[in-house]
Amino acid sequence: MSRTLRLMWLPIILGLLACSTGTPRSPALEAHLTREPFGTTPTGEPVELLTLTNAHGMELRVMTFGGIIVSLKVPDRTGTLGDVVLGYDSLAGYLRSSPYFGAIVGRYGNRIARGRFALHGTEYQLATNNGPNHLHGGIRGFDKVVWGVEPFQGDSGIGVRLTHTSPDGDEGYPGALQASVTYTLTDRNELILDYQATTDRATPINLTQHSYFNLAGSGDILGHELTLSAERFTPVDSTLIPTGEIASVAGTPFDFRTPHAIGERIGADEEQLRRGGGYDHNFVLTRSGPGLALAARLVDSVSGRTLEIRTTEPGIQFYSGNFLDGSITGKGGVAYRRRTGLCLETQHFPDSPNQRVFPSTILEPGQTYRSQTVWTFGVWPSK
Ligand code: BGC
Repeated sequence: MSRTLRLMWLPIILGLLACSTGTPRSPALEAHLTREPFGTTPTGEPVELLTLTNAHGMELRVMTFGGIIVSLKVPDRTGTLGDVVLGYDSLAGYLRSSPYFGAIVGRYGNRIARGRFALHGTEYQLATNNGPNHLHGGIRGFDKVVWGVEPFQGDSGIGVRLTHTSPDGDEGYPGALQASVTYTLTDRNELILDYQATTDRATPINLTQHSYFNLAGSGDILGHELTLSAERFTPVDSTLIPTGEIASVAGTPFDFRTPHAIGERIGADEEQLRRGGGYDHNFVLTRSGPGLALAARLVDSVSGRTLEIRTTEPGIQFYSGNFLDGSITGKGGVAYRRRTGLCLETQHFPDSPNQRVFPSTILEPGQTYRSQTVWTFGVWPSK
């Protein structure tokens, strides 16, 4: 039986299980997946949109262009679903211009200074697309390619597996890289992101997901309360490249070890905030060992929606949407003004290929790159 066919049985199987255990069932709330055409790229490549719905009605819409999360609908404290990510209504917006709304970012998330690095005695020059620097994989990064797609039904939920081969020399990177990203939607209102890659020559790699969250579904994110499991962060220079210092957050506006509203200290007279135009920094996650660790907790006390992020990665980029300036009209004709959304990008630290003290981002042939991040949506106060 094909996977698609098997998926068609999923609602029925889940329905039978609910009956046999006596669990009350709400009508039409059964996990399911649909796929439909979502336009074509300028070079004629067809793009598909996949819609995944879990047993509580939480809905993920993802397209094959850039592996972009087009919408993510989660319940508020009254059970009302709302879209918590920024983006466009159609493919055209994403093709025109997008600050990486909802996209898979690669080969290297965030910046590499002047797009240069040396690896095993060879100097490489990557595309520069952000002032003097290389940002988010270059001019045509993983956010701008059409990924292969395969739906699946796993132990934890239903999902899609996206695949992409980045050729040797792509944006200046060495080695042909085979990448896959899976999105799994569980019935615990989680989205599990699994990244994997292999290469035929040593290359830097740092994959992440670039969704802009707004848990209220409208307005700005300054009232959202953020907690970060980070005692330290990596300060940046005026081009947002880490200086190499690993600084303590204590006594600074970067201390989110206890919850703080994002707007509380964002306007403080502080050099790092001035450089970022707000928060645009990598936080060093505090962890007691390998595996998933809590990285961030975001709460919108008005809607009651909450998001917890767990990851196997050593860092998280907290970007407070400082470069949004109202010039982009997004979903529903809404102008995205400054700080309409925020990104929490689990990652290795920016510019690691040039920073010896940062954890390595080099993938060698024969090794498999693996990274996992889990987004858990809930409500506050919890029920
Ligand atoms: C970066 C920002 C950048 C944004 C959109 C974030 O990950 O940290 O500096 O402006 O992505 O490109």
